[in-house]
Amino acid sequence: MSLASLVAERRILVCVGSGGVGKTTTAASLGLAGARAGRRTLVLTIDPAKRLANALGLETLGHDQQAVPKEKLLPVIEAIGGAPAKTGTLHAMMLDQKRAFDEIVARYASDPAARDRIYKNRIYQQISARLAGSHEYAAMSKLYEIAQEGRYDLIVLDTPPTANALDFLDAPERVSGAIDSPAIQWLTKPYLQAGKFSLKTVGLGAAFVLRRLARFVGSEFLEDMAKFFVEFNAILGGFRERAQQVFDILRRPDVGFVLVSSADPMSVDECIYFYDRLMSSKMPLGAFVVNRVHPSGPPEIGREELIAKLGARPELRGYSADDVVQVAADLDRTYREFQALAEIDKREVGRLATRTGNQAPIVQVPFFDRDIYDVEGLSAMVRYLLEE
Ligand SMILES: Nc1ncnc2c1ncn2[C@@H]1O[C@H](COP(=O)(O)OP(=O)(O)OP(=O)(O)O)[C@@H](O)[C@H]1O
Ligand SMILES: [Mg+2]
Repeated sequence: MSLASLVAERRILVCVGSGGVGKTTTAASLGLAGARAGRRTLVLTIDPAKRLANALGLETLGHDQQAVPKEKLLPVIEAIGGAPAKTGTLHAMMLDQKRAFDEIVARYASDPAARDRIYKNRIYQQISARLAGSHEYAAMSKLYEIAQEGRYDLIVLDTPPTANALDFLDAPERVSGAIDSPAIQWLTKPYLQAGKFSLKTVGLGAAFVLRRLARFVGSEFLEDMAKFFVEFNAILGGFRERAQQVFDILRRPDVGFVLVSSADPMSVDECIYFYDRLMSSKMPLGAFVVNRVHPSGPPEIGREELIAKLGARPELRGYSADDVVQVAADLDRTYREFQALAEIDKREVGRLATRTGNQAPIVQVPFFDRDIYDVEGLSAMVRYLLEE
């Protein structure tokens, strides 16, 4: 199924890939493609470049769903070759990880007092902003909520940069794994047994160790930490339930994962790794996007012909014959370097196709000579993505 059909038919597209490959740009472009196909589309994005957000008229892109104004949307749609009258809508929302986390806490805490105790806990404040994998978890959780509301025909999810793309699928287990770990159990048990969060009431053996630890980190810190894990344990069931719901949604056939990669061998390796993981978790693969590909240049011409052509260029008028020969040599070297890059990229795309059994379309987007944020850049990107 082509990426164009995926955009027209699926309900959720998830852009995944290693850091900096172009996930956010791809997500924004797929959002535009969705609107062009007449769908009510939402792009749930993470940290878009300011210029990209501005180009979509979203100066204050925040944790709320905002409509991309028609005067920003329609010029791009027209530049792609879409019909304004048939255009759907495009909303965008930037995921605020901390707020998403807070919302889950609010939903599952036993009462508002428990919720506020967790919010105020310094350990929670640290964890909700920094725990590895929590960003992914928050993104997935938000996706679930919005999908449940049913206000959109298509939701495009951008995902955070992770050193290892697997973080994303492991996030729910890691969040609960961190809390279930033996070290945490060990820390919280004496407090739980004592029924109070004070070192004075903690059992002797543990108290000895905790007191020594407290000398380094402060007893308040230890108490905060124990309190947090005890309190958080109570809502952990909620986190697990949400994780399960998200996984169930992501396995549905109306979802498509879009694996974004560069043509760089390491990035392709990560993409393959991620593909394997998708397959083993039975998640629906939609398409591959290989971004920033170096296209092959025009066929090579002989040195004499090149010199003759250069000599005729108005820019080189007034240059000596020796200079023109020098320019030809430089140009020839650059041409060969580009061809070599194009050759490597072609091989990598071939490797990706073979290794993944040609199961999904591989869409190639060339290396543009500048960042993608305006009508021109975005419409060019969308055109490449929709190409058959
Ligand atoms: N084909 C391309 N040609 C030129 N520039 C590109 C191309 N694709 C993306 N870019 C630019 O590369 C930068 C990184 O892209 P983007 O933010 O989409 O990557 P990302 O995968 O979301 O990064 P992160 O992992 O940090 O979230 C942006 O400035 C974008 O405009
Ligand atoms: Mg990004």
